[in-house]
Amino acid sequence: MQNVIKVQKDLYYLGGNDRRLALFESAIPIPRGVSYNSYLLCDERTVLFDTVNLSVSELFFENLEEALGGRKLDFLVVHHMEPDHSASFLRLIEKYPDVVIVTNSKVQQMLENFFPFSGENVHLVKEGDTMSVGRRTLTFITAPMVHWPEVMMTYIPEEGILFSADAFGTFGALSGSLFADEVRFEREFLDDARKYYFNIVGKYGAQVQNVLKKAANLDLRLVCPLHGPVWREQFGWYLKKYDLWSKYEPEEKGVAVFYASVYGHTQNAAEILAAALAQSGVFVKVYDVSAAHVSDLLAEAFRYSHAVFASTTYNNGIFITMENLLRDLKEHNFQNRKYALIENGSWSPQAGAHMQAEIAGMKNMIQIGDRVTILSSVKEESRDALIALANEIAEDIQS
Ligand code: FEO
Repeated sequence: MQNVIKVQKDLYYLGGNDRRLALFESAIPIPRGVSYNSYLLCDERTVLFDTVNLSVSELFFENLEEALGGRKLDFLVVHHMEPDHSASFLRLIEKYPDVVIVTNSKVQQMLENFFPFSGENVHLVKEGDTMSVGRRTLTFITAPMVHWPEVMMTYIPEEGILFSADAFGTFGALSGSLFADEVRFEREFLDDARKYYFNIVGKYGAQVQNVLKKAANLDLRLVCPLHGPVWREQFGWYLKKYDLWSKYEPEEKGVAVFYASVYGHTQNAAEILAAALAQSGVFVKVYDVSAAHVSDLLAEAFRYSHAVFASTTYNNGIFITMENLLRDLKEHNFQNRKYALIENGSWSPQAGAHMQAEIAGMKNMIQIGDRVTILSSVKEESRDALIALANEIAEDIQS
């Protein structure tokens, strides 16, 4: 049965939630689910903004039929070709064969790559093009690499509406309420939003900054992303998060301590350091990189100003899960942070040098203190070295 939600006059939400998908993009656990958003504007012409993933397409087609109320579907605007938004395209054009697809040439090429589609009924647009659909005008804004190269957005100046594609989206299914101001966003969604941002578009900070510059010139009264709640109030607060995140600036002063430990001794070193930091009044969080998923660790690393990496030596290198974290951080352009290193080894401690080499490939990373080396287990001397390192980190954070 349809579950159309009215966004405002003439604008309807047609999306749905998936709370069963274990891994988004086959890689990222989403225990709170995800929504796939699609919107229908009913002006003198009817305009559908994107389709949905196959998991919610039955509901989507019922919603579309209900929201159209017997009217013809005139336009489908395709902003982004990732299949979580485009998978229902073929069925849509089979059901509505006269619909005109409004999009850019990169999307058109991808439509032909993904589907048996030969480009009929396509109206190509480019940056700044406009199209009247009655009382409202669609203005098209390109947003390459946020999150694929073909991405574009649509702005409706008469009502300050931005259809923002993946930008400003978040993981987390919707629970009846559609609007960010109804869902206690900071408490209920910010962690998911940060995880979504850094895992999905975190690599493309420069491109996100380009989009933010374009957004700065717009009167934004309603922002409709492809995942998560719709923004109609306090969007400036969320824009500031995007600005910080895309400049790779830390969101909070604090230390994220990441450890990889096989028998608990490296964990012991990490916990001694963390306790000393906390006793100095520093906010600190400790993560076992073999227990937490790397997508969560990535978001937490970007969140804080300081990071400590503690790894046992394994196969003459870094322990597997720590190596995976450091490589993922590098892939996502982790930068502009202070860091410290702890290594452990029973006969030839080498994890530290290898971690150093991984971090050398990241921009503007400043090491605090000397690397602390543990030989199998923490002794009085290495405990003193950990306390001394904690004091140096605390001094740096509090300066
Ligand atoms: Fe939600 Fe890049 O797709």
